[in-house]
Amino acid sequence: MKSVTGKRKGVRQTPMIQQYLRIKSQVPDAILFFRMGDFYEMFFEDALEASKILDIALTSRNKGNKDESVPLCGIPYHACDQYLARLIQAGKRVAICEQVEDPKTAKTIVRREIIRIVTPGLPVGLESILGSENIFLGALVPSGEGMGLAFLDILTGDLKLLSESQVEKVLNHIQVHQPREILLPPELSAVRPSLVEKLEKIALLTPFDPSDTVSPDQVDKLLEGLRERGLMGAESVLSTVDRQTLHFLLSYLVWTKNDHLEHLKNVQVTTRRPYLRIDEFTRRNLEIFEPLSGKTRRATLLSVLDDTRTPMGRRLLMEWLRYPLQDMEEIHRRLEAVEAWRSDTKRRKRLRSILEEMADLERLMGRITAERANARDLVQLRETLARLPGIIDEIQELPGDLMGRIRDHLDPLEDLVATLHASLVDSPPLSIKEGGMIREGVSGELDELREIRSSGKSWMIRLEAKEQKRTGISSLKVRYNRVFGYYIEVTKANLHLVPDDYQRKQTLVNAERFVTPELKEMEEKVLSAEERIQQLEYTLFIALREEVKGRTARIQAIAGALAQLDVLVSLAEVAQRNRYCRPEFTEEPRLIIRQGRHPVVEQINLQESFVPNDTLLDCEKNQIMLITGPNMAGKSTYIRQVALIALMAHIGSYVPAREVQIGVIDQIFTRVGASDNLALGLSTFMVEMKEAASILANSTVRSLIVLDEIGRGTSTFDGLSIAWAIAEFLHDRYEGAGTKTLFATHYHELTDLARLKPRIHNWNVAVKEWNDEIIFLRKLAKGGMNRSYGIQVARLAGLPDSVIQRAKEILHNLEQGELTETGVPTLSVSRQGREDRSSPAQLELFASRPSPVEEMIRKAPLDQMTPIEALNLLHRLQETLKGEEPDG
Ligand SMILES: Nc1ncnc2c1ncn2[C@@H]1O[C@H](COP(=O)(O)OP(=O)(O)OP(=O)(O)O)[C@@H](O)[C@H]1O
Ligand SMILES: [Mg+2]
Repeated sequence: MKSVTGKRKGVRQTPMIQQYLRIKSQVPDAILFFRMGDFYEMFFEDALEASKILDIALTSRNKGNKDESVPLCGIPYHACDQYLARLIQAGKRVAICEQVEDPKTAKTIVRREIIRIVTPGLPVGLESILGSENIFLGALVPSGEGMGLAFLDILTGDLKLLSESQVEKVLNHIQVHQPREILLPPELSAVRPSLVEKLEKIALLTPFDPSDTVSPDQVDKLLEGLRERGLMGAESVLSTVDRQTLHFLLSYLVWTKNDHLEHLKNVQVTTRRPYLRIDEFTRRNLEIFEPLSGKTRRATLLSVLDDTRTPMGRRLLMEWLRYPLQDMEEIHRRLEAVEAWRSDTKRRKRLRSILEEMADLERLMGRITAERANARDLVQLRETLARLPGIIDEIQELPGDLMGRIRDHLDPLEDLVATLHASLVDSPPLSIKEGGMIREGVSGELDELREIRSSGKSWMIRLEAKEQKRTGISSLKVRYNRVFGYYIEVTKANLHLVPDDYQRKQTLVNAERFVTPELKEMEEKVLSAEERIQQLEYTLFIALREEVKGRTARIQAIAGALAQLDVLVSLAEVAQRNRYCRPEFTEEPRLIIRQGRHPVVEQINLQESFVPNDTLLDCEKNQIMLITGPNMAGKSTYIRQVALIALMAHIGSYVPAREVQIGVIDQIFTRVGASDNLALGLSTFMVEMKEAASILANSTVRSLIVLDEIGRGTSTFDGLSIAWAIAEFLHDRYEGAGTKTLFATHYHELTDLARLKPRIHNWNVAVKEWNDEIIFLRKLAKGGMNRSYGIQVARLAGLPDSVIQRAKEILHNLEQGELTETGVPTLSVSRQGREDRSSPAQLELFASRPSPVEEMIRKAPLDQMTPIEALNLLHRLQETLKGEEPDG
């Protein structure tokens, strides 16, 4: 934390600077937007920092005096949101300080106060700039052995409480929510330095101690409000830790003056419900939300599955992917709904076109309850609600519990729509202070005032005609402008005709402007009518907004139902488009996939049509699939596709396969040998081993483990030994059963395991050799592959021929053992220096030397040969071949 003292050396403490420093000392960690007239000014370090981030000019007060100069930069208040958003996105907090009294009436310096603190986790007012995904503020409270966690999206009102006893799980929740900011008690960095270090890499950390900044009464009041609205569910659901965490979070909302919480939804206690756990490494490796670096943004499961039409739907889909279900019945309900929509393409199309037009109801309610909504927001709400009957029509006949539940929440709120329709014009202005929002006929008083205002206009026209006649000046004009009000304008040439009762007000180049008592009187009437109209419209609008606010819970229930509908229909759309099948859940913990595909690779890699493959895994007989195959064959793709299919099934999605049977899985683990992890910044073998250790410790018979070249991050023999031992452990851990495992490896030696362990089976991803080339068949076949073709792949990649030839020699040497008889390391032996030349030809699949037969064919002078000579050659070739056969 920065320390800001109330005094600045060398700076003359003018009353304004004093006031500034006093306010700044309340928020040393925030940039202070100090309102001065039409600008927010920033001073001292804030100015230095903000001018850099915002790329705006840095100037100074008291420029002339070097010692007293104060760095300064400013932004116009009406454009403040964009600047604010940029500071927030740069991870800054901003305290907004306003003038809270009228400068005209202030005796000395204008009173100023911080009205709100905007932070990366609380970006209130910036939603249009920040995209439609959830923006979470996290909070972390250590308690006894464990930790309480909270995640709040202040813009939508989503609030979750969780508690965990293991640090890894705490971290995992945080990683999956990607909060922009995490609140924690200041002492945590002393107690748990390594945790805090990790958190720092994820989000802006805000050490926060409510005890000296927030009065507990205010927090209690908020809590009371939540309780009254029934948001805390049964109180007994909340543990002591949950309560502490909630209290901590609410304190921060009080402190930052973000305590408009009428839009808060049910406090969810997520950890109480079992879900399919996916650790951070697996999530990244399976590219669920983010592609591994260097790949296109489309290369994620989220982007394959996301064809939602509303921001609410997109956020919910992400939540489903964060916490896939373990509850078979709930999964079934989702699948049933997806099925219903999938089978009716026309209905789906109609529904999606309605959804597309819907506003982001959740954020809209956030703005309405925070009293930030304008008339356009209410019009959007009206238009969105007005589309509900169309949606209800479409879903009326659809079968299934989930569709029934959704239907029950879709209350079209006809009376509210009618009120909004009757009250608000079709396209109101942005401002709520300048009138023009309320329809005619809503308020008698308003209509009267408007009458006066418009009669002012026709009165002006009449007056103009009357005065023209009276004075004989046909060019005389009656006009109005903001600065001077109403006036009569007469050109210079006609000034001699002006009557006595005209009072001169302003002289222009070619004309003079006058007023008359009559004009003055009318002006007052019209202007005061205008003012009254604005006031009255504002009051009516606020009443309307309050009325909507009273329906918050209802509208949020609608929003929630629409979000679900949107996700289900999106899953149906994707299932239909990509020819997915409905997974069948079974009680037995097995995983059978017929013709499975990788959901992302099949979409991204269009040069090659995707080759489907089967999978058979269970705990008793087919526990471990050991997969070998050359580089580039498709091992990694295959094992990931199995994990992804399993995951998709658990969110209630259809899956890329012909047929899938699956038992509920409690956790999916994937691990990749260290050298593949570079992109994740976890490149050490140590990390790889830690990860492996955590799998062995945390997996159960119900888990799915995917290991990709584990052991590769160290020397061959060490790696091989470790891989062997891990496979053995997974096989032998429980009696007669084990965790379903996919194990891709380059160590062919591991294939021997299948001979010793009944539940380990060898598979390979087949390739075919043809004309000195390898062709990737992408087809999984039974049995192990006993060579890796690494050198052939290197050749494909364009390594120089000499390097390839030499590599083949070295490979050969390697396969002979470590040292030659003379004690020279075999790796270094080259063919020229070796006596025994008998074996290489048969070891090398792609022999570098032509065989005698080939040699004879190549040398034959075909263009000079007679048919008989050719026949003779053929005979000789045959004889030579026979001579080459070992037993021939
Ligand atoms: N079933 C398939 N159908 C079509 N293309 C595939 C299939 N499987 C993999 N591919 C393509 O082959 C490429 C290489 O696959 P992958 O990375 O899975 O190979 P690998 O065997 O793991 O290789 P390495 O041993 O080098 O890690 C993939 O990027 C993908 O484009
Ligand atoms: Mg691979």
